[in-house]
Amino acid sequence: MSTLERVSTAEQAPVEATRVNSWNGWDPLRHVIVGRATGTVVQAPEPAVRRDFPEDGFPLGTWGPMPEEMTAEANEQLDSFARLLSSRGIRVDRPTPLDFTQRVSTPDWEQESMFGCMPPRDVLLTVGNEILEATMSYRSRWFEYLAYRPVLQSLFESDPDMRWEAAPKPRLTDESYVPGFWDTYNTLGLGEQLDKVAANDLVLTEKEPLFDAADVARFGKDLFVQLSLVTNRQGYEWLRRHFPEHRVHAITFTNTHPLHIDATWVPLRPGLVLHNGERLATPELVKYFEVNDWEVVEAVQPASWKHQMRLSFCTPWLSVNLLNLDPNTLCVEAEEVRLADQLVGLGFDVVPVPFRAVAPFGGGLHCATVDIERDGVLEDYFP
Ligand code: NVA
Repeated sequence: MSTLERVSTAEQAPVEATRVNSWNGWDPLRHVIVGRATGTVVQAPEPAVRRDFPEDGFPLGTWGPMPEEMTAEANEQLDSFARLLSSRGIRVDRPTPLDFTQRVSTPDWEQESMFGCMPPRDVLLTVGNEILEATMSYRSRWFEYLAYRPVLQSLFESDPDMRWEAAPKPRLTDESYVPGFWDTYNTLGLGEQLDKVAANDLVLTEKEPLFDAADVARFGKDLFVQLSLVTNRQGYEWLRRHFPEHRVHAITFTNTHPLHIDATWVPLRPGLVLHNGERLATPELVKYFEVNDWEVVEAVQPASWKHQMRLSFCTPWLSVNLLNLDPNTLCVEAEEVRLADQLVGLGFDVVPVPFRAVAPFGGGLHCATVDIERDGVLEDYFP
């Protein structure tokens, strides 16, 4: 019996058929998750991350819910973005927030708070008909997948071909973190920090595989995994073995605080990648793109960030955190006018989306979404 037949009874509400399918960031978008700001907290300190916002009421060691007015404004922009996508015929699902102020624990540790469910891109990786829950590396984000379980359960019930996977849940004991990392790292000069980034000698040890989904850029058969503050070599190695049909590359950039690839190396359409010129790619990566006839375009400088830096751990380079609706259409933050002009010059239609208020909740238009379905099939763009 097909899924549709099974649910079409008087007792059960019909489940709309869905299809999980997305191989890259540019094919025509049909179905997406959009995050929510509701309940987000400035998380309590932990080995992997320490929030320190003395000017904005959260000096190091303090934690608690984001201010109500900021959460409301971010939710307005997220809801309005979700409506915009729906009005274009794109199906939108939303996560279910938990009480993120609650203390969480495993047999190995206790953490005073969780975080939120705004950047879904950090937690879930869609590759073809598979949605993979990332390990994450912050204790405050260990349980974040729970906010997406209602959507994932419903996709699993309505798409008989969906593969629902979860990477091994990490232990995240103290052995997963370099002791005293932040105290020493912050005293190093730029050159020393960049040497450590290039060697991926950062806060995470190699005790176990760790990765955030947002460190993976999808280009069809090629997956590029940024080694970062939240993704270690074992995390890359796990992904490489998990996707044996793909070429999975470990890459780094000259970014002192690497955290998620989607404000650094951004696929726009086959043959065109947008590059954040303040974070240089290795010569090997540039060559790999060039010999395969890809154009690497440097993005213009971001517009100023103004008040949205309040309680934000993102940089102004969220400007390039774009969402493709199809290979010719890009959602761009509404104040990024210079970038919009650059993209129009490259042949794109630009959809301006007010999204500044979402930045302190962990990202831009790409971070705030996860692909469920795009048209298209697995293709090799680097033959
Ligand atoms: N951590 C990145 C944002 C990633 C989308 C940055 O601040 O540039």
